[in-house]
Amino acid sequence: MMPSSAETSAPADTDRLREALIHQLRDLDALRSAEVERAFRTVPRHLFIPEATVEDAYQAERAEVTVRDPGGRALSSVSAARIQAFMLEQADVHPGMRVLEIGSGGYNAALIAELVGERGKVVSVDIDSAVVERARNLLDLAGYDLVETRTADGDAGVTELAPFDRIIVTVEAAELAPAWVDQLAKDGRIVVPLRFRGLTRSVAFRRDGELMASRDYEVCGFVSMRGEGAVPQQLVVLRDGPDEAERVGLRGEEGVLLDGPGLRTAFNSPRVEAWSGLTIGPGESYGDLELWLATVLDDHALLAATREARDRGLVASWSAMGVSTLLDGSSFAYLAIRPTTTERTAFEFGAIGHGPRAHQAAEQLAEAIAEWGRDHCGETAEFAAYPAGAEVASGPTTRVLDRPRSRLSISWPGGPS
Ligand SMILES: C[S@@+](CC[C@H](N)C(=O)[O-])C[C@H]1O[C@@H](n2cnc3c(N)ncnc32)[C@H](O)[C@@H]1O
Repeated sequence: MMPSSAETSAPADTDRLREALIHQLRDLDALRSAEVERAFRTVPRHLFIPEATVEDAYQAERAEVTVRDPGGRALSSVSAARIQAFMLEQADVHPGMRVLEIGSGGYNAALIAELVGERGKVVSVDIDSAVVERARNLLDLAGYDLVETRTADGDAGVTELAPFDRIIVTVEAAELAPAWVDQLAKDGRIVVPLRFRGLTRSVAFRRDGELMASRDYEVCGFVSMRGEGAVPQQLVVLRDGPDEAERVGLRGEEGVLLDGPGLRTAFNSPRVEAWSGLTIGPGESYGDLELWLATVLDDHALLAATREARDRGLVASWSAMGVSTLLDGSSFAYLAIRPTTTERTAFEFGAIGHGPRAHQAAEQLAEAIAEWGRDHCGETAEFAAYPAGAEVASGPTTRVLDRPRSRLSISWPGGPS
């Protein structure tokens, strides 16, 4: 067998690659503190991704998928370093803390072990025994034998080791599991990739009286939670055709009645456009615009398309992660951009509509975009998680979402508090 490049690389190469990664993570504003930087400098990331070349192991944006289901869908991965860095910054882990990681890979647990030090405790739980076995072996090889690993459904937390100062969930969840809230220390924090209305944000929740609240969130993407806490989402394929690679689909909340046949017919009808007047520079973040749209639109989903479908112009979408979409029965309109200068130094947001009500849908979406630009750009939204059955006021700038065991709200300033 050929030796992997992890075995053949000289330590100086991996040190250099690790420093380059740290620079990149700083530039991306994912690494912000000296403590998290020290952890990234100390833990040899390539030892935790033997499946990849050493160079690939140190790519900031690259996740390594380690388990797929028979259909090819990712079930487990070592997350991209950029996401791990900002989630650890959100978690604000200190020496001596007790931390529960839900979803194992090895590397992130080793970073947390560096942050909590010898007086602290790290336990990492995964529902998949093969993932735990892989993580255990790699943690031992890299010298992190004090990290505890367990095979279990993380939805239940780990009662016998609670309370935890930090719970870091590294799998996409539709709600805060009640066990996480129960097992959290008084001043604790839960960082979780929360999925709602087709979008995902890593949200750092803290206790606020009876509820959990947050104004700290970042755009992210993760594999979906399995087990007790799995909440299905609805997927409507708008186009699959003979070539699997050219797929276009909508993903949204389970429970919203999506008219699949109607939406597919709409997708095959001509496009209409509406533009908002709101512009953005290249590389600027528009994550809050999508969060705003997911809050104020009555029916919101995400339109996602493969690279091939985007390259062939089947959708006027530029985003690999998908774009905010307004649903209106069997019509829909999705977020689009167009360059406003020939040098492509600025872009205008707008909407592409399809279906019998394409014009109305596109105009409504363009108006919601313009409203954000006029009145809410630069504001921070607030996430709140309440126990099931709690009274939560909704309003024009507050969306309340019902989950199986809780209620979730997203509010912008100006809404009811
Ligand atoms: C993105 S990976 C974890 C990445 C890892 N923390 C790292 O070091 O990069 C997500 C993991 O969550 C696991 N998972 C899914 N549902 C789970 C559940 N209910 N409880 C615990 N783990 C779960 C999957 O098996 C998968 O291994």
